[in-house]
Amino acid sequence: MFRDKWFRAGLAGLALLAVGYAAPADAASPKTLKQGQELFDENCAVCHQEDAIGEPGLAPSLTNPELLSVASDKFFEATIRDGREDTSMMPFAHLGRSKVRAIVAYLRSHEKLPNRSAEVDAQPGAHGDPRLGEQWYNYICSTCHGLDGDGYEAGGTGTAIGLPGFLNQVTDGFIRETIKMGRSNTRMLGFQGPAAMANLTDQEIEDIIVYLRTLSKN
Ligand code: HEC
Ligand code: HEC
Repeated sequence: MFRDKWFRAGLAGLALLAVGYAAPADAASPKTLKQGQELFDENCAVCHQEDAIGEPGLAPSLTNPELLSVASDKFFEATIRDGREDTSMMPFAHLGRSKVRAIVAYLRSHEKLPNRSAEVDAQPGAHGDPRLGEQWYNYICSTCHGLDGDGYEAGGTGTAIGLPGFLNQVTDGFIRETIKMGRSNTRMLGFQGPAAMANLTDQEIEDIIVYLRTLSKN
């Protein structure tokens, strides 16, 4: 009886371990990570900097905790493959899928927050008033992201969030969470809570997302 209890506790412990290891099971091998880092250093570091910390006005951080948390592998792979038209983020389709995935694995090895991308991408689409969103955008966001959302081109430090290269790769959830949380250690501060640049309501954030979606249609 006693032994049986221990046996079962042991099994439960093993089960817990198995669950604990379930996530890293599909984590990349050291060989893939090394390959990913080498590819990154060769192809990307010139703009995204060593360790992908980014450089304001040149290229965003790719090891930023909030970005890694909300962005799916699909987002990374597609952005790297196709680049972002009308920005200096060029396409890297010539590398092929397995090398692109090695780079993504290398970026993921910097993760500090849980990967929420599945939940974020499953969030409902935004509903709001684009005219109100435009007012907020022009008032708060345009200083850094440009009046038309064309990013660095406009002289700011924010990326081109009004161009199809960005908008066609992201869900409303991605935009919503980025506006709410911001990106730590960059100029993109969150827009909710006491430390926010401006404390926007949920509805105001919806309005801004709906407005941004109208930009890619021009
Ligand atoms: C003080 C400058 C600044 C302001 C104001 C600002 N942003 Fe940003 N934003 C940034 C920077 C910088 C980044 C990229 C972070 C990096 O460089 O790593 C960014 C990133 C983003 C991203 C992710 C883009 C991508 O390429 O993945 C979104 C979405 C975004 N901002 C939306 C907004 C919205 C909406 C507003 C207004 C409510 C706003 N930002 C205001 C500087 C700013
Ligand atoms: C010539 C400079 C340059 C090079 C080289 C470059 N990038 Fe970029 N990258 C950029 C710029 C600029 C942006 C932001 C574009 C914008 O305004 O939306 C960007 C954006 C990105 C984004 C989106 C980040 C976000 O915050 O949404 C990813 C992912 C990315 N690059 C990955 C890579 C990878 C991986 C490589 C190497 C294979 C690479 N880049 C090489 C300039 C570069």
